[in-house]
Amino acid sequence: MNTAQVAPDMNSILVLGGTGFVGRAVCECLVERSRGGGRVVVPTRRLQHGLHLRSLPTLELVQADVHDDAQLERLVAGADAVINLVAILHGSRAAFDAVHIELPRRLARACQAAGVRRLVHISAVGVGPGAPSHYLRSKTAGEAVLHAAGLDLTVLRPSVIFGADDEFLNLFARLQRLAPFMPLAGGQARFQPVWVQDVAGAVVRCLDRTDTLGKTYELVGPTVYTLSELVRLAGRWSGHERPQLPLPMAVGRLQALAMEWLPGQPLMSRDNLASMAVPNVASGTLPGLAELGIRAAALEAVAPGYLGAEPGRARFGRWRAGAGRE
Ligand SMILES: NC(=O)c1ccc[n+]([C@@H]2O[C@H](COP(=O)([O-])OP(=O)(O)OC[C@H]3O[C@@H](n4cnc5c(N)ncnc54)[C@H](OP(=O)(O)O)[C@@H]3O)[C@@H](O)[C@H]2O)c1
Repeated sequence: MNTAQVAPDMNSILVLGGTGFVGRAVCECLVERSRGGGRVVVPTRRLQHGLHLRSLPTLELVQADVHDDAQLERLVAGADAVINLVAILHGSRAAFDAVHIELPRRLARACQAAGVRRLVHISAVGVGPGAPSHYLRSKTAGEAVLHAAGLDLTVLRPSVIFGADDEFLNLFARLQRLAPFMPLAGGQARFQPVWVQDVAGAVVRCLDRTDTLGKTYELVGPTVYTLSELVRLAGRWSGHERPQLPLPMAVGRLQALAMEWLPGQPLMSRDNLASMAVPNVASGTLPGLAELGIRAAALEAVAPGYLGAEPGRARFGRWRAGAGRE
């Protein structure tokens, strides 16, 4: 651990948003870290959302409304640290504000009331003054609210996150399985995808190291890709690479508007498109995974395995080549 200082015991951890894609990986790391001791508490709006966590020993899944101050205070009391992963990607401006600004504000108050100082908050690359979407603006304001609360705060800002259960490369793969071509707006937008296990590892390192207090980290992978390249790779690795039809942004916005009107979560909203106006890559001015002692995994080393077009033997051949064995 080099010069890093080890934090005092952090045994009881409250994980808001622990049932989500990143939350699952974080919870697994936390349970592993506790080695059968400790306590990880995950509130959820519906217990069914956390069924996949049930097998984790030392994890308690509880149904709760984290937007209710009394319930939130009860959850926070007794925790040594809180991790906040609650977020939405789609919704009205009011919904973004409630989840990304009001919840952090009330969480900070609950922490102050309960005397809980340690908070690790997951934000996103691209936040900052002049952020172009409701998602990024509300995330920016949420960070500011937490900084103003004077807690022992660490903020983690990941780029887009990939992993077996992601709704990103898997979505591009699914769409190309179904459609003969891929209409794509914003194809030149840039991303620096980071592996979900590296993000989870970063959360746990923050809990264990006092030198992360008060700092903001950008969590990114080793390579920058355009959206168009990522769609192509997802298609290739899933065995259904389709030609892309670049769409002008105005047409992309119309397409997104149509998706917003369909029932369920939209595949892409106008706000998502607006977020792509800022590069989703490391600014270069903040520390990252390397400073946390984590070597970022390459997309090419992980994603083909779960997008899974290649029969096992072909995949091993490519991995052998990657390792310089042929
Ligand atoms: N995934 C990415 O590519 C990516 C990229 C950059 C940053 N991030 C950030 O990483 C964090 C985790 O993202 P994720 O991909 O794991 O998200 P996710 O899979 O959508 O999970 C969201 C979590 O938040 C909870 N939640 C959602 N809406 C809520 C609401 N209105 N009230 C209370 N709880 C609510 C859900 O809990 P229940 O449904 O169980 O109640 C769930 O556990 C977020 O802060 C996100 O902004 C993610």
